[in-house]
Amino acid sequence: MSELGSLIYTPQRASGEAVSKVESHTPRIQAPDKVGKNTVFKVRVEVGPHPNTVEHSIRWIELYFKEEGRAFNPILLGRFVFEPVYAEPAVEVSLKLGKSGKLIAVAYCNLHGLWESSKDIKVE
Ligand SMILES: [Fe+2]
Repeated sequence: MSELGSLIYTPQRASGEAVSKVESHTPRIQAPDKVGKNTVFKVRVEVGPHPNTVEHSIRWIELYFKEEGRAFNPILLGRFVFEPVYAEPAVEVSLKLGKSGKLIAVAYCNLHGLWESSKDIKVE
């Protein structure tokens, strides 16, 4: 695994002190299991409950797509930056896919690092 990849927590890879942070830091992806080809659908990504103060907050979420059969992955679908106190780490985006693949969300907490989750999505 790459240096950066080895620093990204997932529920499966969290160990030691990070185990207690899994629930509050792992992004939750709400998306259909199957979608129509090139048909717009909504995806929601949220983190928390998590503190939202200047000293400790989820600073951003990135949403990627690993498209089946594509030579170079992933595709960055969106990057959402949150102002502490004012903005909660929850976003909804409209997507349109031509091929099946995997949605991957990464969230960054300024104290507890990078956290990842993923969801397979089938295009029919
Ligand atoms: Fe945190």
